[in-house]
Amino acid sequence: MKRTRLRPARGLPGLALSILMCCAWPVAAEDAPKPDAAPAEAGKGDAGKGNEDTGRKLYNRYCRGCHGEEGKGDGLVFMPHVDNLTRKGYIDLLPDTYLYTAIAKGGLAIGKSSYMPAWEGTLTEQQINDILAYIRSLPLH
Ligand code: HEC
Repeated sequence: MKRTRLRPARGLPGLALSILMCCAWPVAAEDAPKPDAAPAEAGKGDAGKGNEDTGRKLYNRYCRGCHGEEGKGDGLVFMPHVDNLTRKGYIDLLPDTYLYTAIAKGGLAIGKSSYMPAWEGTLTEQQINDILAYIRSLPLH
């Protein structure tokens, strides 16, 4: 009789543990940082790690509307002060890390127009490097 009465009590900690584990797990999974959503840190950006062809496709899809064909600043969408991404003696002097920040964090992060969106939620680090490789391949004027 004694044994039968003790059995449920002995089972309780185990039950409590499994409830705890099954409830705690999804919470922990949600808190875990997602690599793609991690904020861009200073120092990121390397055109040498990018793929120019992939970058061209991404550029045409996400950037051409404002920055124009081949980055000449003649986009179809009206935007005041969309700078030329191919100006000689300007863009070639800007480091990859600066351009990376401009693209990942948006215009405000580099003290420019907030019309330049932040792309870190849309593009991965690799995709931004691909776009950098494409921008670096454009003929300068
Ligand atoms: C909605 C329009 C718009 C879109 C889309 C857009 N940009 Fe911009 N971009 C701007 C504006 C406006 C500026 C700020 C220009 C200025 O103030 O001189 C800017 C600035 C920049 C700069 C900094 C240039 C500099 O002179 O410092 C870079 C680099 C850049 N954009 C790259 C991109 C890339 C790459 C994409 C696509 C992933 C993109 N932009 C999409 C509007 C846009």
